[in-house]
Amino acid sequence: MAYSGPFQPGDRVQLTDPKRRHHTFVLERGGKYFTHKGEISHDDIIGLDEGSVVRSQLGSEYLCFRHLYVDHVLSMPRGAAVIYPKDTAQILVEGDIFPGARVLEAGAGSGALTIALLRAVGEQGTVFSWEVRGDHLEFAQENVATYFRDTPQNWRPRLGDLADATRGELGEPVDRIVLDMVEPWHFLGTVADLLIPGGVLMTYVATVPQLMKTMEGIRQARCFTEPRAWETLLREWRVEGLATRPEHRMNAHTAFLVWARRLADGVTPPRPQRRARR
Ligand SMILES: C[S@@+](CC[C@H](N)C(=O)[O-])C[C@H]1O[C@@H](n2cnc3c(N)ncnc32)[C@H](O)[C@@H]1O
Repeated sequence: MAYSGPFQPGDRVQLTDPKRRHHTFVLERGGKYFTHKGEISHDDIIGLDEGSVVRSQLGSEYLCFRHLYVDHVLSMPRGAAVIYPKDTAQILVEGDIFPGARVLEAGAGSGALTIALLRAVGEQGTVFSWEVRGDHLEFAQENVATYFRDTPQNWRPRLGDLADATRGELGEPVDRIVLDMVEPWHFLGTVADLLIPGGVLMTYVATVPQLMKTMEGIRQARCFTEPRAWETLLREWRVEGLATRPEHRMNAHTAFLVWARRLADGVTPPRPQRRARR
């Protein structure tokens, strides 16, 4: 799929109308998009640079851009709640998801994080996505295929319980593991077995009891570094002359992130450090 350059057939284009409403569709030669201001010919968009304006039959103007990752994950059909972009950004950077990495995630849910992981590891990397519910895995498969316009060759979706995942299935231990599930502390033995020494574990949990159990579970496993926990608060601002101020509303809490690294086999964690250092 093309991320930039002039529009091509197959691109998912997002038009913004004068009332800032979005209209999204896939470009095809000879295609038409119908609005209450008349039709728009796909051929009028194909070949234009992003950021161009196209006119409908009745003269209404629409600004054209490609659909971005954030547009896709916030509008795609979902079976399970998605990880919001502000937290995905944290997972990619703090979780050190690098090009060529072998990453395991569970559960796949609606596939929002899956798409971000696949983008970050690139074609040389591999993403293994465990999902225990068939209906959720179908959402993930559909959303990933829609985003990439096909199912990426380096994606390994698996229907099943993470508890049953084995090294044999992965070929070798993975570099990074991301858990977004209700009770991640039950899977730390599996994680310890599947994660390479030095590998990064990130978990995403919504509530304080989940956070406490995850932190304690990681400490008790005695094969990880002292875990760190944090949350990210994102507040948008309205910037309009003397009316400049923070927005009244924000999605204040989404979830807590927990981070730890796998120790080498046979190493017991150094004396308990109650404050994790970077
Ligand atoms: C909140 S959703 C994940 C959302 C996903 N990260 C996203 O961004 O779209 C949590 C998922 O974990 C799955 N799950 C729960 N326990 C699991 C297990 N033991 N093994 C695999 N998947 C599991 C659930 O079925 C659910 O789909």
